[in-house]
Amino acid sequence: MKKYTKPLTIWIVGASSGIGLELLKRWLEEGHNIVASSRNAQSSTELLELQSTYFDRLILLDLDVSTSQDCSQIAQQAWDGFGHLDRWFYNAGAYDVLKQENWELAKFETMMQTNYMGAVRLMIPLSAYFTAQGYGEWVWNSSLSSYFGLPYGGAYSAPKAALVNLAESIQPELKAKGINLRIINHGFVKTRLTSKNTFTMPQLMQPHDAAQQIADALENEKGFEIRFPKLLTFILALVRFIPYSWSLRLTQKAL
Ligand SMILES: NC(=O)c1ccc[n+]([C@@H]2O[C@H](COP(=O)([O-])OP(=O)(O)OC[C@H]3O[C@@H](n4cnc5c(N)ncnc54)[C@H](OP(=O)(O)O)[C@@H]3O)[C@@H](O)[C@H]2O)c1
Repeated sequence: MKKYTKPLTIWIVGASSGIGLELLKRWLEEGHNIVASSRNAQSSTELLELQSTYFDRLILLDLDVSTSQDCSQIAQQAWDGFGHLDRWFYNAGAYDVLKQENWELAKFETMMQTNYMGAVRLMIPLSAYFTAQGYGEWVWNSSLSSYFGLPYGGAYSAPKAALVNLAESIQPELKAKGINLRIINHGFVKTRLTSKNTFTMPQLMQPHDAAQQIADALENEKGFEIRFPKLLTFILALVRFIPYSWSLRLTQKAL
């Protein structure tokens, strides 16, 4: 684990459970200042307990990323909380497995709003603040599922793929302004999100271990993409690159 030379100020969007909560705990233990958001951050028992310990270094802000007005107002409050931000970590995510007979417009919309549009809603006001500041880091938690649309998972993975594509597109512009945008594509983690999966999840990780890999990679690696675990990454990258006639035959078998 790297020793920081100074505490960072980090805004975690999606900090109330799973990977976001584990990152929050680790970064607080390391001495950083954190703004933690989720829809009910200010009434979350776990977040309130952490705030009673780290009262001068943890600010809780309720935010529903599917609401445009909330996003611009809360982005300002998150910025003003400690007077600036070093890192914005977008971690909000919604997930549902949808078979054709259960397709529901509202579920597609929720996943698009949470997994993609929320980041867009926040990056617009934040880009002005970070540009004026002239430095900072944006980290967007996508998913290895963004590599290839797998059966029943498209409503979740399509917005994640959009998030990655957007990140690729805006990274050079942001870099020129001193803002370093990075993406994370990781595999299965045992959280509330995946508790609805009935299939065996290969290389399933605990949230604490996933958070540790993310935090270590953020500090020790410089690349645009952080990805793990290795075997699942390799398999999905291969599925993406082989001809569709092969990959779709493979995914047909997974039905
Ligand atoms: N678990 C996996 O296997 C896996 C794999 C790859 C990528 N990921 C990604 O990792 C991230 C964290 O997921 P997780 O597994 O830790 O799931 P989780 O425990 O369900 O955490 C999701 C977080 O997003 C927040 N959130 C959801 N909808 C929101 C909204 N509309 N506005 C604001 N915040 C919202 C949740 O807070 P509230 O519900 O309290 O608002 C919660 O803090 C997600 O982006 C997910 O897609 C997960």
